[in-house]
Amino acid sequence: MVHLVRRRDWIGRIRLALTLFGLPFTGCTREVWPAICCSSSYPFRTSQSIRPISTSYCNLHTTSVWTMPSSAASHLKSRCPQYPGSKIKRFLVPDDKVGWSQNWPQYNPVSHTDPSVEKKPVWADPDIGSFSPKFNAVDGAVDRTSFEGSYKIEKGKPLNPHGRTGVTGRGLLGRWGPNHAADPIVTRWKVDAKQAKIFHSVSKRPILQFVSIKRKDCGEWAIPGGMVDPGEQVSLTLQREFSEEALNSLAVPSSERAKISERISKLFKSPGFQVYKGCVDDPRNTDNAWMETVAVNFHDESGNSVSELPLQAGDDAGQVQWVDVDSSFPLYANHSHFLELVAKEKKAHW
Ligand code: BGC
Repeated sequence: MVHLVRRRDWIGRIRLALTLFGLPFTGCTREVWPAICCSSSYPFRTSQSIRPISTSYCNLHTTSVWTMPSSAASHLKSRCPQYPGSKIKRFLVPDDKVGWSQNWPQYNPVSHTDPSVEKKPVWADPDIGSFSPKFNAVDGAVDRTSFEGSYKIEKGKPLNPHGRTGVTGRGLLGRWGPNHAADPIVTRWKVDAKQAKIFHSVSKRPILQFVSIKRKDCGEWAIPGGMVDPGEQVSLTLQREFSEEALNSLAVPSSERAKISERISKLFKSPGFQVYKGCVDDPRNTDNAWMETVAVNFHDESGNSVSELPLQAGDDAGQVQWVDVDSSFPLYANHSHFLELVAKEKKAHW
């Protein structure tokens, strides 16, 4: 009790100090500046244990005490102090200045486009000026529409629908505006040697497991998703990305690849449960380029389709394995939120 009172007192002092400096207090229980609420992987982590940790870092879906504007709540990793894969420091954006409707003449974001994007690879747009894409439309084979409705264009550049990020340009993202990805969430029940479901000791709910990969770029565990190629159907991206990252289909002979495809297509042809469709709170987001995804759950109820396939990491994945679905397991971007929705739908432990 004494401990609690002291802690509240401490938080109160921080709140007061921030108010005196004219800064907002967001209500994160452990962090006071929103950008610090980002994953601890920035600067990138070099190694991470697969064991779930007991205290999750500031996860606004579960631990926020005071409310903050919804645009700010879903826009934390997009404001990480250091832009991933670079030494670029974002212009810090407090919660109450996230929305574009807030007048903020002092806003002075850093312009950054990664050299890998400036090299004009096939997956990236050229610079605006020499190039004027059709925003809010399907532009040739490139889908520049947003799942979240029409986005604004300012001085020829698209504006992030979730607000300011402290960085302009495209950073690590190839497309101006929305960059579309797809995330296959492949699940099964955790079972014992007799194939009986295992229940969590505290929640008393059955435990789900999902196929998780460790991303090579940042070392964080994630859903094995990837970018939708121009003109590609999302259903195909879901199956392709899963095959490439979790089954290493790119590295096996074509006869073997056909077998993998046959084995998993039954599961992937099932309608699946669309878990999420919209913007992603991704640390690569900028004011002018952002990630959007469609996350779909494919569940192997009987445990005898994908569950029996040998997992092998490939392409952008450094490791792959079945991981227990649990709120304390930290994941890339807002993947944890997607798993929470799956757990709720399946009435599983979270
Ligand atoms: C990843 C997806 C992720 C998306 C948005 C893509 O690079 O492959 O898993 O959802 O970025 O963060």
